[in-house]
Amino acid sequence: MNILLLGCNGQVGWELQRALAPLGAVTACDFDSPGDLKADFSQPESLAPLVQGLRPQVIVNAAAHTAVDKAESELALAQALNATAPGVLAREAAALGALTVHYSTDYVFDGSGTEPRTEDAPTGPLSVYGRTKLEGEEQVRASGARHLILRTSWVYAARGGNFAKTMLRLAAERESLNVISDQIGAPTGADLLADVTAHAIRALVHGPTLQGTYHCVATGETSWFDYARFVIEWARAHGQPIQVAPDAIRPIPTSAYPTPAQRPLNSRLDTSRLRQAFGLELPPWQQGVERMLREFLGR
Ligand SMILES: NC(=O)c1ccc[n+]([C@@H]2O[C@H](COP(=O)([O-])OP(=O)(O)OC[C@H]3O[C@@H](n4cnc5c(N)ncnc54)[C@H](OP(=O)(O)O)[C@@H]3O)[C@@H](O)[C@H]2O)c1
Repeated sequence: MNILLLGCNGQVGWELQRALAPLGAVTACDFDSPGDLKADFSQPESLAPLVQGLRPQVIVNAAAHTAVDKAESELALAQALNATAPGVLAREAAALGALTVHYSTDYVFDGSGTEPRTEDAPTGPLSVYGRTKLEGEEQVRASGARHLILRTSWVYAARGGNFAKTMLRLAAERESLNVISDQIGAPTGADLLADVTAHAIRALVHGPTLQGTYHCVATGETSWFDYARFVIEWARAHGQPIQVAPDAIRPIPTSAYPTPAQRPLNSRLDTSRLRQAFGLELPPWQQGVERMLREFLGR
């Protein structure tokens, strides 16, 4: 199988380089790749000749404008990366008869209520990031290409910066910490997403009717506040230098921490469809976070 992977150096893209390798020949591109492999999503039309030259059987797109607050003032760039470029890729996939894999987000929803959302729940993005990601989904679906869209949330990876690492740094430096407690979701490892993608691609090659949109997050739910406490207390119990006392980690509402982009309060995603269609289990979020901490802290 020939696979074209775009955004190969992002959190998910990096893990996809590993997870897709056993499926076939992976051509991994990013916007600063040399020569013909350069895949700059800010120039969406430049992606067409790349796809036509490589003629992949599967296109996996992990590139995106993921800086949620910056996107509020970079509408044109967010539009190009999150909507126009995925549309170009999907139409090229349709022309080749290739499968296209795309990632989307809980931010396509308005975050009201407390129930986990299913794939068919009404959308209502609150931010430029959410609106452009929703438009990207729509362009992929409208392209006529066989497709897999995985909506996920709160992605972290062992490589690079993430929320848990930031909390550990602050917990070592400060005597108190305020963390948002009214946004609820599931921290999801880039490694889990990449592994699910590889399993799903194999299943889709043999069962094309499985194409569609699926929610893919780790099992369980938490707030940023409880996520921070989990990480900090795990590190304390494993001998890390933590300055902040347990009762000095304090919950605050979103309203006390204004940001340019509005975030959904309820980021719960129902994963029943994915688990049933592909026969997969999604582990509890704590399992992946603990593994990432062990890797990061060398424990
Ligand atoms: N992160 C989350 O919490 C989260 C939550 C829900 C859904 N998702 C979705 O999951 C997917 C993967 O996200 P991620 O967390 O892996 O994001 P990420 O780490 O920010 O990776 C995005 C990739 O896109 C690249 N990129 C930036 N500008 C580009 C351009 N002009 N042309 C081509 N590539 C460009 C980035 O390169 P640089 O790093 O060099 O800029 C990076 O390699 C995305 O579709 C995202 O919307 C993410």
